[in-house]
Amino acid sequence: MKPFIMDHPLIKHKLTLIRDKNTGSKEFRELITEVATLMCYEATRDLPLEEIEIETPICKTKSQVISGRKLAVVPILRAGMGMVDGMMTLVPAAKIGHIGLYRDPKTHTPVEYYCKLPADISQREVIVVDPMLATGGSAVDAIRMIKEKGAKNIKFMCIIAAPEGLEALTKAHPDVQIYCASLDEKLNDDKYIIPGLGDAGDRIYGTK
Ligand code: PRP
Ligand code: URA
Repeated sequence: MKPFIMDHPLIKHKLTLIRDKNTGSKEFRELITEVATLMCYEATRDLPLEEIEIETPICKTKSQVISGRKLAVVPILRAGMGMVDGMMTLVPAAKIGHIGLYRDPKTHTPVEYYCKLPADISQREVIVVDPMLATGGSAVDAIRMIKEKGAKNIKFMCIIAAPEGLEALTKAHPDVQIYCASLDEKLNDDKYIIPGLGDAGDRIYGTK
């Protein structure tokens, strides 16, 4: 499935501020939240609608509401948590799952430490969120874990993707629609995205 790359001036502007190394943790967190909300608008564009009857102060009328499957938002810890509030602004009834993965600093491969998903995850449309798609290892493993719990309708939303990560994720999970705000150039030798934004978790939580 072809990745959806955002093309909105508000997202591009906020992304510039996010990338800037002089942007502090408070502003960084606020911007990640805002971009997640803007991206959520796009990622929910295909939600099915149904018509119901309501009564306005003037008359009865038919009007549309979201129908069908309910949503689950699944952040990949830690940095994915930074996108949850922005998503919940638009889909407050979504359930939230958590997947804990960190990249081994030497091998750059993901290490799993937590998985707690809504019991009815197989009935839900799932949006996995993580600001960074670098090698793709974390996203590939997270989506595999979610599929093992029975979920079939899964989207992946990241703020910055590297071509290497996009390729790996598309190859491992061709059924998953990917949304990203920017497709960057490449990875460096430490598997960080160039130009990227640095370490998303450290910048959100001020741990470096
Ligand atoms: C970062 C990021 C992704 C992962 C991407 O998390 O938030 O989860 O790296 O890299 P990959 O595509 O090569 O797997 P990190 O492992 O640094 O953990 P953290 O969020 O807890 O800091
Ligand atoms: N994880 C990050 O936080 N940043 C990168 O550039 C790559 C992986």
